[in-house]
Amino acid sequence: MNKKDAKKKIGKLHEEINYHNYKYYVENNPVISDYEFDQLLKKLEKLEAEFPDLITLDSPTQRVGGGPLDEFITVEHKVPMLSLGNTYNYDELREFDERVKKNVGDAEYVVEPKIDGAGVALLYQANILIRGATRGDGFRGDDITQNLKTIHSIPLHLRDNVLKNVEVRGEVYMSLSGFEKYNAEHAEKGETVFANPRNAAAGSLRQLDSRIVANRPLNIFIYNISFSEKKFETHEEAINALKKAGFRVNPLTKKVKNIEEAIKYCDKLEKKRETLDYEIDGAVIKVNSIALQEQLGATSKNPRWAISYKFAAKQSTTVLNDIDVQVGRTGTLTPVALLESVEVGGVTVSRATLHNFDELERKDIRIGDHVLVERS
Ligand code: IVH
Repeated sequence: MNKKDAKKKIGKLHEEINYHNYKYYVENNPVISDYEFDQLLKKLEKLEAEFPDLITLDSPTQRVGGGPLDEFITVEHKVPMLSLGNTYNYDELREFDERVKKNVGDAEYVVEPKIDGAGVALLYQANILIRGATRGDGFRGDDITQNLKTIHSIPLHLRDNVLKNVEVRGEVYMSLSGFEKYNAEHAEKGETVFANPRNAAAGSLRQLDSRIVANRPLNIFIYNISFSEKKFETHEEAINALKKAGFRVNPLTKKVKNIEEAIKYCDKLEKKRETLDYEIDGAVIKVNSIALQEQLGATSKNPRWAISYKFAAKQSTTVLNDIDVQVGRTGTLTPVALLESVEVGGVTVSRATLHNFDELERKDIRIGDHVLVERS
């Protein structure tokens, strides 16, 4: 095949592979088998081996890098990555709404789950992913492009020409099922395990070798456009453009008319929390109108147009004061932890079963230990 034909063929394969990648990883709705998908990739790899100068940055074969990096390069964010102010009850959310009203009048909101993972920024130029970075100190982060490319739901090439030159924000996370499977497999081999899915996600992104990251069950939800040549009137429109461009957006994102509706939806999300295959630690409430967002602006740390509503923590640490033995009806003995009272997920906990004595020994639990208590 001559180079001109190879180029054409490669372009076609990119399109085909990107389409099937999108159907599989973003829509969860594959239209071809894994085998057929692999065959397409193999065809592309073969052509690229023949014509190495036709390998592009956004080629689907470039998701995993060759070898480890020496270190990450620090990069400056196009727009600072602010963090959100927190609220812990609905009255604080009503106060947020009062501040919005005082500044710009009535506002509609969009409510989203607050994903408990690691925040990242993705930069696209002419539809091509050119850089992905960690949040870092909010102004500068680490260039982790090669690690982020291993996440198949991150488009290497944007669809539909809706965004083109854009910087987007999202949260990388490890699914609960993926986390449990990963830990079980590694515990069996006597290797270290992750403390929780958030550490698993953040720790994975800090790996210098993207081949390791490629084997971690990571995924991403994109929730904001931080910079775009194309302007949007509302956050809802921006979210729809993100979806159109091929990003994975959280399906529980919802527009509401006012703060009382937002509160109702926060309540719904908190109840839904237990049924999701990923951890959420709250809800994010965002002013829908971009014009109003711009009028509201930001303090040095937080935007004034968005706030998080934190769910009651499911985990807390406390001290193990004593171990009691409970005698069951059939005579079974169960060790029970007597804890320094602590609030976990909205309830006060002072006792917790330790299951059995083997478990006590296995975990080497002793009186006076600091322990992590989780409601499940
Ligand atoms: S919006 C200026 N939306 O929570 C807007 N953040 O402290 C900033 N997060 O750093 C973020 N889910 O890493 C937004 N749906 C969501 C989110 C979300 C999780 C993270 C993000 C941010 C932190 C807020």
